[in-house]
Amino acid sequence: MTKGTTRYHEDVHTPTEVANPGSYPPRVVKTYPGAPRHPLPWPPERSAHRLGRLLADLGGITRSQWLTPLDMLPFTDSFEAIPDADPLQWLVTRRPTPSGGARYSAEWYVLAGPDSEVPTGVYYYDPARHDLVRLRAGDYRSWAASRPAGTVLVQTNVFWRLAAKYGEMYYRLACLEAGIQVAQALVVAEGQNATARLCFPDADVAEVLGLDPGEEGAHAVVELLPPVPAGYGGPSLAAFPRAHGAHTAVLAQSRPGPEPLPAAPSGEGKRVGLPHAAPDLAAGTRTRHAAMRGFSGATMSAGALATILTAYAQDARWDLPANLVEFYCVVADVTGVPAGAYRYHPGEHELELVGEGDPRQRLREAALAALTQQGARTANVWLLPVGDAEAAEERFGARWYRVQQAAAGAALHRACLAAATVDVASRIQNDVLTHLLDTWFGLSGRRRSLLVAQFGTEHPGGLRPEFRLTW
Ligand SMILES: Cc1cc2nc3c(=O)[nH]c(=O)nc-3n(C[C@H](O)[C@H](O)[C@H](O)COP(=O)(O)O)c2cc1C
Repeated sequence: MTKGTTRYHEDVHTPTEVANPGSYPPRVVKTYPGAPRHPLPWPPERSAHRLGRLLADLGGITRSQWLTPLDMLPFTDSFEAIPDADPLQWLVTRRPTPSGGARYSAEWYVLAGPDSEVPTGVYYYDPARHDLVRLRAGDYRSWAASRPAGTVLVQTNVFWRLAAKYGEMYYRLACLEAGIQVAQALVVAEGQNATARLCFPDADVAEVLGLDPGEEGAHAVVELLPPVPAGYGGPSLAAFPRAHGAHTAVLAQSRPGPEPLPAAPSGEGKRVGLPHAAPDLAAGTRTRHAAMRGFSGATMSAGALATILTAYAQDARWDLPANLVEFYCVVADVTGVPAGAYRYHPGEHELELVGEGDPRQRLREAALAALTQQGARTANVWLLPVGDAEAAEERFGARWYRVQQAAAGAALHRACLAAATVDVASRIQNDVLTHLLDTWFGLSGRRRSLLVAQFGTEHPGGLRPEFRLTW
């Protein structure tokens, strides 16, 4: 079983052929004909309904863009893809989170309890109608929760939506998107004491949701417990550190955090210090989008780079070790940082040089599509999380691939959110043969770079009319 996963990891870097793409339905929103529905207030951000706002910020249809099929040219490099039926106009809807090929295969379900602002039950969040479809009436939270939780959210992935375009690579994208979705959830649920788990009894949870887990995988749960009304706190105990120490040792034992993986030692490469940064990821959720036309090539400031890297490696409140991925990047044109490949050390907030040479040339050799090639020429920074398959497999067994990809997706999404707050455009790209860069990075054993995101000043021809549907 684990051998198959290893082979998949080593072999599936690009989409594989889909014999009959026309046989997959175009629809990317589920329906449950006849099931009872519970409406949520619209527009979500104007209401005090926390759950409704949260679901819209996660999976809602929140943006619309007017494009034309000509906008596909940088992806396809050919006029062949222009559809005969309507070659000029193209209205697309978008969501707060990025999605491979905009296939929007990620879904959210809700296990509601008595404090969830909706009647107790199990629900599917319908993004098209911004309402909840009731699937069960009882309180099923205990099947998914690992701690006291008022509401439990479950993130799933409808595999065929990705398989229709990417063939075998659907699983890689589903795992990456779980991390992206969870990263977004932990940002937008701030204030609700949210934690996430990627290691949980999937089969039981899928059963509660009424899903066939082979077709729609349950990939993550997010547990929420909003605070109770504030009481009188009392005076500080800072004057009694010995008693405090004895007490907190017990608390740490009662809820242990995930153990770090054995860390790959730092190298001897030249170090570059970075300015302090404190990114506001929630602000980034309002404007993040994938750059449509690459970048202008303008120089990036060290402050912007520091903001992106701080978010890239930020700790997440989840059940995975903080060092499940290491934080590699390539820098081409950032003030005060020589061009090259680097490993970012979050503890020291420093870059360590791991590879010299022309980054743009190396990235061009690994990039597949025209847009990605263009990004190789014009972006300033490329982030490439690196994972050690051996260490991950030892800790997680068959689940290693899934959690490692999720950690990579989450790291890149946090970085894209941070970039949006400092006017830096970004795009996650799976069409880069990242393994071709691994020797340059000095990776050995089963350590591999997993995915790329590009960052830079948005190309002036890249912005498209985009309308916020909810705010
Ligand atoms: C896992 C993942 C892989 C992606 N891979 C590519 C890619 O290979 N090429 C590309 O141009 N865009 C890629 N994207 C970007 C998506 O096309 C983009 O997120 C989607 O069109 C929605 O647009 P938005 O991000 O502006 O909401 C990827 C996104 C994700 C989440």
